[in-house]
Amino acid sequence: MMFKKPAGVLMFLLVILKVLGTAETCRCSTSSSPFFPPSFYCSCVSLNLTSVPQNLSTNITSLNLEGNHITTLSQSDFSQYRSLDNLDLRQNRISIINPGAFYHLSNLTKLSLMFNGLTSLRSGMFTGLGKLETLFIYSNNISDIQDGTFSATPQLDVVYLSGNKLRTLRAGMFTGLGNLTGLFLGGNDITSVQTGTFNTTPQLRSLYLNSNKLKTLTPDMFTGLGNLETLYLYGSDIGDIQAGTFNLISQLKNLDLEHNHIQSIPSNSLSNLLQLTSLKLSYNNITAFPFEELSNIQTISTLHLDNNLLTTLTSTAYDVLSSLSDVSLDNNPWQCDCRMVDFKLKLTESTRRMVHLNKIIDSSTPFENQITCSQPDHLSGLNLKDIKLENLFSGCFEPKIVRFERSDSMELAQGEDLLAQLVCEASGIPTPTITIIPPSGLNATVESGVIFEDGNVTLRNVTAADAGLYVCIASNPVGSTFAIFSTEVVKPVSSPRFTLPVFVGSVSGAVAGTVVLGAIVLTIWRRTCAKSSSVALDTGVALTTQL
Ligand SMILES: *[C@@H]1O[C@H](CO)[C@@H](O)[C@H](O)[C@H]1NC(C)=O
Ligand SMILES: *[C@@H]1O[C@H](CO)[C@@H](O)[C@H](O)[C@H]1NC(C)=O
Ligand SMILES: *[C@@H]1O[C@H](CO)[C@@H](O)[C@H](O)[C@H]1NC(C)=O
Ligand SMILES: *[C@@H]1O[C@H](CO)[C@@H](O)[C@H](O)[C@H]1NC(C)=O
Ligand SMILES: *[C@@H]1O[C@H](CO)[C@@H](O)[C@H](O)[C@H]1NC(C)=O
Ligand SMILES: *[C@@H]1O[C@H](CO)[C@@H](O)[C@H](O)[C@H]1NC(C)=O
Ligand SMILES: *[C@@H]1O[C@H](CO)[C@@H](O)[C@H](O)[C@H]1NC(C)=O
Ligand SMILES: *[C@@H]1O[C@H](CO)[C@@H](O)[C@H](O)[C@H]1NC(C)=O
Ligand SMILES: *[C@@H]1O[C@H](CO)[C@@H](O)[C@H](O)[C@H]1NC(C)=O
Ligand SMILES: *[C@@H]1O[C@H](CO)[C@@H](O)[C@H](O)[C@H]1NC(C)=O
Repeated sequence: MMFKKPAGVLMFLLVILKVLGTAETCRCSTSSSPFFPPSFYCSCVSLNLTSVPQNLSTNITSLNLEGNHITTLSQSDFSQYRSLDNLDLRQNRISIINPGAFYHLSNLTKLSLMFNGLTSLRSGMFTGLGKLETLFIYSNNISDIQDGTFSATPQLDVVYLSGNKLRTLRAGMFTGLGNLTGLFLGGNDITSVQTGTFNTTPQLRSLYLNSNKLKTLTPDMFTGLGNLETLYLYGSDIGDIQAGTFNLISQLKNLDLEHNHIQSIPSNSLSNLLQLTSLKLSYNNITAFPFEELSNIQTISTLHLDNNLLTTLTSTAYDVLSSLSDVSLDNNPWQCDCRMVDFKLKLTESTRRMVHLNKIIDSSTPFENQITCSQPDHLSGLNLKDIKLENLFSGCFEPKIVRFERSDSMELAQGEDLLAQLVCEASGIPTPTITIIPPSGLNATVESGVIFEDGNVTLRNVTAADAGLYVCIASNPVGSTFAIFSTEVVKPVSSPRFTLPVFVGSVSGAVAGTVVLGAIVLTIWRRTCAKSSSVALDTGVALTTQL
């Protein structure tokens, strides 16, 4: 019965010729098929062996020693079994591999050493394995890989080094792996990848660096990886991506950065990844995503941005999202106010088109049900697609300057090294952007001693040049306002003194006639407008009319 031909279902015929008896109850068998060379397999699984059995047939091609108690491998262990193609030593207690242990295994293509107690890989360990293609060595305690370890294994295609204790990757570690296409390094303790680490692996297509402790991604980490297609970096404690990080790996197709602490993607990081098909960024702290950078990438179909801190979507975002087949956007604190108007208009338009074409609305876009509003409170929990356009406006308020004053109480007496602080605070939804113009005009810089930072002006070494009018302008998509703070010079030569604000006004205030001031305000206003060109409502007109 055992020798009966199976009824034509199998792709090839496997005939077990005979069971050749046992060695320490190792079970050996020969098999042949029309498609593969004959193989002679011995299984010595879970036999409590403490050494490699020496009395098996010397022509075995496959030996399974899984789950034994072997601690050390030496050159004599395999010297008889020179035909081995596949050697499985997983789940032993191997902590020592003496140099040349595999010296005679010149036909071995697959070596399994996972779940052992190796703490380092040394040069000479793999000598003789000239045909080795796959090395499984994950789940050991490897903290160091000596230079030259892989110099005798030029055919290695995939190396599984996950679940070890590697901390630093450096140039030289992977020398000899010129044909490597896959490298698995997930679940180590890697905190740094030094320049040149991958310079000797030109064929690498897939690099798994997930579940490490990388913290910062820099461009020099990825030198030499011009053919890389898949980069897994999820769960690696990454908080910072430096500009240019992906510049050298422009063939990238799959980039997975999920479960990190990323807050922003530096601009122009994604636009040159013209082969990108999948970008996963779920479970980070991203507050703004550069959708426009994906506009020119024809290949992309997957974008995961769920569980971040995204608040608004533009019409460009709509165009990009609607061209993808796999989108996730849920669990972001979407702000359903006037900033979402353009996006909502596109959404409504496409829904109407769908109805017009008698299509089923549910299948229109894969993302439209995922935008659940977090703010404003009265729209919280509602789906953006179910909110009327006019209700999006109700969430916005014009800016109002609530405070423009000195935040320090120092007496500004005569002296060279004085420090004063001016703070401008404004309310409004969306949060207004604040600009402060010093008396010197628009050229003030950090170098000039005047520091601008979110409505904070720090003046150092106050001199007569710092006296005069300071203008604070607060603007958001629904409006704009300004306030003025005045300084007067008490001792004109060197020590100006700050007084209380002489005026806090809005666009409709009494300064309307002050031509010079108006010009400054206008200049700044134009600058602000130019910066936020996607703004839906523009009160610049109102401002200009009143000026
Ligand atoms: C191999 O040696 C072991 C003892 O080390 C013995 O139990 C087993 O029968 C031997 N097998 C063969 C095939 O000789
Ligand atoms: C291996 O050697 C045994 C004799 O020891 C022989 O019967 C068997 O056919 C050989 N198998 C292969 C695959 O060469
Ligand atoms: C291996 O050792 C364990 C514990 O001593 C024992 O329970 C088990 O039966 C042994 N297995 C074999 C195949 O001898
Ligand atoms: C190694 O493989 C080649 C090609 O399959 C074969 O000719 C040679 O005999 C094998 N060497 C050993 C020691 O079995
Ligand atoms: C790795 O080392 C730790 C201690 O550093 C030890 O507890 C653990 O058993 C070791 N793992 C292996 C597979 O040897
Ligand atoms: C890759 O393998 C080929 C044989 O297929 C070999 O000739 C070549 O040296 C290897 N390349 C490197 C860089 O090791
Ligand atoms: C996001 O930021 C918050 C507040 O700083 C922090 O508690 C949280 O752990 C961060 N989440 C991630 C995924 O980094
Ligand atoms: C302020 O003046 C003091 C004394 O002249 C000088 O040491 C200091 O570097 C100056 N600070 C700045 C920020 O220019
Ligand atoms: C600002 O810079 C421009 C060009 O560098 C210069 O012409 C102008 O005088 C500067 N204005 C002030 C107030 O320093
Ligand atoms: C301005 O700077 C002061 C002192 O550094 C700080 O306490 C305050 O929070 C800052 N205010 C703003 C709006 O950045």
